[in-house]
Amino acid sequence: MAVITTLTATIAVTFLAAVFPAYAGDTNNAFSPCTDTRVQRSDGFTFGLAFASKDKFFYNNNNSVQLSPCDSRLSLSNSNSQISLFRPKIDEISLLSVNSTSFVADSYGYMVAFAGRKYAARSPPAFVANSSYTVTSFTLVLEFQKGRLQNLYWKRDGCSKCPKNSKAVCLNNQDCAIPTSTCKSHGGPVDCSLGIQLAFSGTDKHLSALNSWYEVKNLRQYSLYGLYSNLRSSLTSQYDKFF
Ligand SMILES: *[C@@H]1O[C@H](CO)[C@@H](O)[C@H](O)[C@H]1NC(C)=O
Ligand SMILES: *[C@@H]1O[C@H](CO)[C@@H](O)[C@H](O)[C@H]1NC(C)=O
Ligand SMILES: *[C@@H]1O[C@H](CO)[C@@H](O)[C@H](O)[C@H]1NC(C)=O
Repeated sequence: MAVITTLTATIAVTFLAAVFPAYAGDTNNAFSPCTDTRVQRSDGFTFGLAFASKDKFFYNNNNSVQLSPCDSRLSLSNSNSQISLFRPKIDEISLLSVNSTSFVADSYGYMVAFAGRKYAARSPPAFVANSSYTVTSFTLVLEFQKGRLQNLYWKRDGCSKCPKNSKAVCLNNQDCAIPTSTCKSHGGPVDCSLGIQLAFSGTDKHLSALNSWYEVKNLRQYSLYGLYSNLRSSLTSQYDKFF
């Protein structure tokens, strides 16, 4: 199974090093998401997801200056926020899951994926949940050039996966969302754990092409969740409860 160890911890400027077991073939010894590194295809790569209200990701509330959560000027640690760290294997399609009994997505609102310090990359803030709606399914693309992370972005496919005949709604023509009141954290029947599918693009430090993005594009028509049979029931059967 490709789910990576999830560590949900209160945000801190310094991250614990080496909380992830290194596996065979992993030559990347950067374990903090706030360090720079170059990777090759067999490596693990650490990145973080920060959860907070949207304005917390911008410097001085100026929404044209988005900083990395690694940048201490954001002082996320002084606000209501959470961080999850992941260490997926480069170029392997992975489905990450954020599942913590203490994690209630609508108390934060948005999430940003981030890694690196001098070469800091961060995704735009993605809406996760408010008191009305919760989005549980995301695709994150990690783009590398010569093994250095260049870009992180959310890939949307409209609402093609949004089941018909259910209480799911399509928000802004891009995210399939379910009513927050139906989530287990709010006394409802639905497991609103977040599922984040990863894809890699670009090249590693030996200029080998990273192909998993190509695979995701081609697999999407068959529903990628089929690859993760043990997650499938928890991530997609939630919709069945409405049929
Ligand atoms: C926000 O930042 C931009 C770029 O630094 C600057 O041009 C603009 O004046 C700032 N806006 C406010 C309201 O501070
Ligand atoms: C929640 O977010 C949706 C989509 O952005 C928006 O339409 C709705 O008004 C928001 N609800 C609340 C209570 O903020
Ligand atoms: C989340 O955790 C709960 C309790 O441990 C478990 O029952 C549920 O299946 C988990 N959901 C996912 C998507 O892993």
